[in-house]
Amino acid sequence: MALINKEFFRTATAIAGLALGVGLVSPAAAASPDGVALIRERCLSCHTEQAGADAKFSRISGQRKSPEGWQMTLNRMQHHRGLQLSADEKRVLIKHLADRQGLAPEEAAPWRYLLEQDVNRVESLDPAYTQMCARCHSGARFALQRRSEEEWRLLIHFHMGQHPTLELHAMSRDRPWMQLALNETAPQLAKDFPLVSEAWQNWQKAAKPDLGGSWRVIGYVPGKGEFDARMKATPAAADHFAVTLDGRYLDGSPMRGEGTATVYTGYEWRAALTVDGVRMRQVLAASADGQSMAGRQFGRDARSVGGELRAVRESDTANVIAVLPAHLRSGARATLTVIGSRLDGELSLGEGVRIVEVVSRSPERIVVLAEAAGAPGLRDVKVGAAAGPGLLAVYDRIARIEVSPADALARIGGTEGDPAAQMEKVPVVFRAVGYAAGPDGKPGTEDDLRLGHVPVQWAIEPANEAAEKEKDHLFAGAIDAHGVFTPGDAAPNPKRHMSANNVGMLKVVATADDGAGAAVRADANLLVAVPDFVRRVLD
Ligand code: HEC
Ligand code: HEC
Repeated sequence: MALINKEFFRTATAIAGLALGVGLVSPAAAASPDGVALIRERCLSCHTEQAGADAKFSRISGQRKSPEGWQMTLNRMQHHRGLQLSADEKRVLIKHLADRQGLAPEEAAPWRYLLEQDVNRVESLDPAYTQMCARCHSGARFALQRRSEEEWRLLIHFHMGQHPTLELHAMSRDRPWMQLALNETAPQLAKDFPLVSEAWQNWQKAAKPDLGGSWRVIGYVPGKGEFDARMKATPAAADHFAVTLDGRYLDGSPMRGEGTATVYTGYEWRAALTVDGVRMRQVLAASADGQSMAGRQFGRDARSVGGELRAVRESDTANVIAVLPAHLRSGARATLTVIGSRLDGELSLGEGVRIVEVVSRSPERIVVLAEAAGAPGLRDVKVGAAAGPGLLAVYDRIARIEVSPADALARIGGTEGDPAAQMEKVPVVFRAVGYAAGPDGKPGTEDDLRLGHVPVQWAIEPANEAAEKEKDHLFAGAIDAHGVFTPGDAAPNPKRHMSANNVGMLKVVATADDGAGAAVRADANLLVAVPDFVRRVLD
């Protein structure tokens, strides 16, 4: 049976892949000789080139996708199809393809969580897509691609050829999946995610910002907290940079990092850095004017352990970027850190906020003891002529908090330091955002005042009666004071009923002090699942 399937899949994919000619190519494929030469040299044993002025190749030219999307396809060409490619050649090809057949910033924008590897995200998709496609993988996987209808159809043929058992799954065996996919899903995909778009045409014409230079970045490292740093990007080759990070965590301890970055499609910043001894990745998108970048920084080996990252270009003029924490209770005193660059004028924290004492001051950060009074609301933070509108929220009390992620998935895994452990644990990082009730006095309404991240106490509880009976909260893992949940060890546990493993259904409970002597509580759902037995081919 296995053999037959294998043969079938080879034939089916060969047909789906290669027999159906050439798709469209983007007009501005002013090809870099390296990339095109490599395609001619390495791909044409299986793909074909169409005669004509532009270099067009069957299957290859009819689609656009993210750098990660191109990497995934090349991985498959290597591991399933037998393509021979050195690591350097692969880098050249991913860059070549992502630059010429990539996504416009606004096309990628709604789906960046997948690029940012923010795995604890519950997607909202058209139910047709959820049932037909996103039951196996993220919907963002296809939403981050653009194809002609023919190419969407070929992708469906590829799925059927590669995974013929998909018709036996739930949400397939109750319907004619293949016909529906070809006749309904493919046209819908071609409409929602078309190869030719105005956004992409405009982005191809647009001048691309140079992302080299000096940046002020603020971010969050789980377990260590918020940091601000200067990030220097020194050009090493076209779109390639040597990168250094030099900054401090909010508690004053230093942070240092260095590594390299590559920019794809004119705005997709991908950096590999070692930060304080830990290997990290940055996935950022630059704004069209090249003045800012935003995204996520996470562990290379623990993708779920990361935090948001924001970068603002340093210029000749002063810039106020953030205040940490971003809230101060009316009537209370607290230490605030104002972060920016060239901060050399007089500091004002807005109406009713008094600076009791300047604790320390540099052009990058001003630490003050401040006291707030007056009505709740957002205050502008000013240093000299530079203003950060609405950066500081003055509030009366924390009316509610939100825990994110609201629905999370952790995975048990091998014990740390055990070389026999094949499957790594997948932890989850929780954070809580606070809100004041706003002018209408009612929490949970549109006018709530967002206070930014607030300190909370973390706890876990069984999610339901069954979990309580199985004592999931005692076995499935533990959450630390920073909100980092570390799941339990893999393998059967003789201490559990029926020697079950350490999976569980939990509630993660955050409790904040509302500032007026009462506790505010919120929770999130956490499923602690078995290890992820799917091995990803990463290069
Ligand atoms: C040994 C044969 C072989 C070689 C060499 C090869 N491919 Fe493919 N390619 C295939 C087959 C078979 C398919 C159709 C099945 C599939 O998508 O995996 C395909 C499909 C594709 C697709 C469409 C994938 C999709 O998601 O729709 C792209 C793009 C592609 N190849 C790119 C390349 C590039 C670029 C190279 C050279 C660097 C290359 N291939 C080299 C066999 C090959
Ligand atoms: C049975 C599970 C399953 C279903 C259902 C499924 N996929 Fe996939 N899909 C996969 C797997 C597995 C891969 C990875 C293939 C590889 O590269 O090895 C994949 C890969 C992809 C890719 C990346 C291909 C590339 O190289 O660029 C896209 C896009 C995609 N799927 C879209 C879809 C769409 C659209 C649907 C619905 C019509 C769908 N998938 C339904 C399992 C599934």
